[in-house]
Amino acid sequence: MNVLIIGAAGMIGRKLTEAILRDGGLAGRKVAALHLADVVAPTAPDAPGIAVTAEAADLAAPGTAARLVAGKPDVIFHLAAIVSGQAEVDLDLGLAINLDGTRALLDAIRAHGPGYCPRVVFTSSIAVFGAPFPEVIPDDFAPSPRTSYGAQKLIGEILVSDFSRRGLLDGVSLRLPTICIRPGAPNAAASGFFSGILREPLQGLPAVLPVERDVRHWFASPRSAVGFLLHAAAMDTGPLGHRRALNLPGVAATVGDQIAALERVAGRRAVELIRPEHDPMVAEIVAGWPRAFAPERALALGFTAERDFDAIITAHVEDELGGRIPVLEGAGGT
Ligand SMILES: NC(=O)c1ccc[n+]([C@@H]2O[C@H](COP(=O)([O-])OP(=O)(O)OC[C@H]3O[C@@H](n4cnc5c(N)ncnc54)[C@H](O)[C@@H]3O)[C@@H](O)[C@H]2O)c1
Repeated sequence: MNVLIIGAAGMIGRKLTEAILRDGGLAGRKVAALHLADVVAPTAPDAPGIAVTAEAADLAAPGTAARLVAGKPDVIFHLAAIVSGQAEVDLDLGLAINLDGTRALLDAIRAHGPGYCPRVVFTSSIAVFGAPFPEVIPDDFAPSPRTSYGAQKLIGEILVSDFSRRGLLDGVSLRLPTICIRPGAPNAAASGFFSGILREPLQGLPAVLPVERDVRHWFASPRSAVGFLLHAAAMDTGPLGHRRALNLPGVAATVGDQIAALERVAGRRAVELIRPEHDPMVAEIVAGWPRAFAPERALALGFTAERDFDAIITAHVEDELGGRIPVLEGAGGT
């Protein structure tokens, strides 16, 4: 089968690429060709037996979507997005990429006409939910976003459902939890500290905590995110009916729970590297985010995630740090 990943140079896209190449197959079939596209040129790793190609491509630019689906890929992962903070600051950019880019992709698939009905896995977000909401959000709770990013993702979900209902494609929208621990350098996202207060101390480096310890949120690891995507590509979509968007399993944890897990995995010194420095703006943004879900549909459909925060930290240590915990070895030096 032929597979296309759009947004392949991003954090999840790179890990998904690695997983597909490692497995060599998807949905029980051998992958013959994997095409990687991103506005930032992705690298095409060598993989015996799989034709891996990569290109720098702006999904929102005229003609790009049609070119990307010209070869009729069997599975399309649509991960390309402008993330929440940027989409809030720049409405035009968010609309152009998160909404118009998604529409362009779906239209390009439709243009092939009957006989072409690829599996499309679209990464939505728990940002489709806006306060007020219950402490634990059930599957039938109505989305009502309070950010432009959430609104753009929700419109994408609705289009994926409608195009699936019409038989133009076979789509699944995944409302990803906040993916933690995000590897790499700290970024400016309002959610960045959820990863930073763990990732930096594990390395023996200081980190700033801008909110109170009782802030509760919904998390899954990058490893689970890849698992969700692979499962969505392979699953029987019949049981979804016309409701193609799924709340996904995760771990509901307070910042205090995160820090307690860090201490269990990496010791007291790691925790001492976290410096509280209240940021009212970040605290206000985070206060409007979902805290926990009861994702019964996704669980029944076989989606799985970590069960506690220790497992999320352990996944990071195994996947990003080669099983080592630098702070326990005296790294850093504050
Ligand atoms: N990481 C999370 O916590 C999280 C949570 C919920 C949803 N999501 C969604 O999951 C997806 C992947 O997340 P991520 O963490 O890997 O994000 P990321 O920012 O690391 O990756 C997104 C990629 O999309 C690319 N992109 C942006 N505009 C593009 C365009 N016009 N054409 C082609 N590519 C473009 C970017 O260059 C980037 O490589 C995104 O859709 C994101 O909205 C992520």
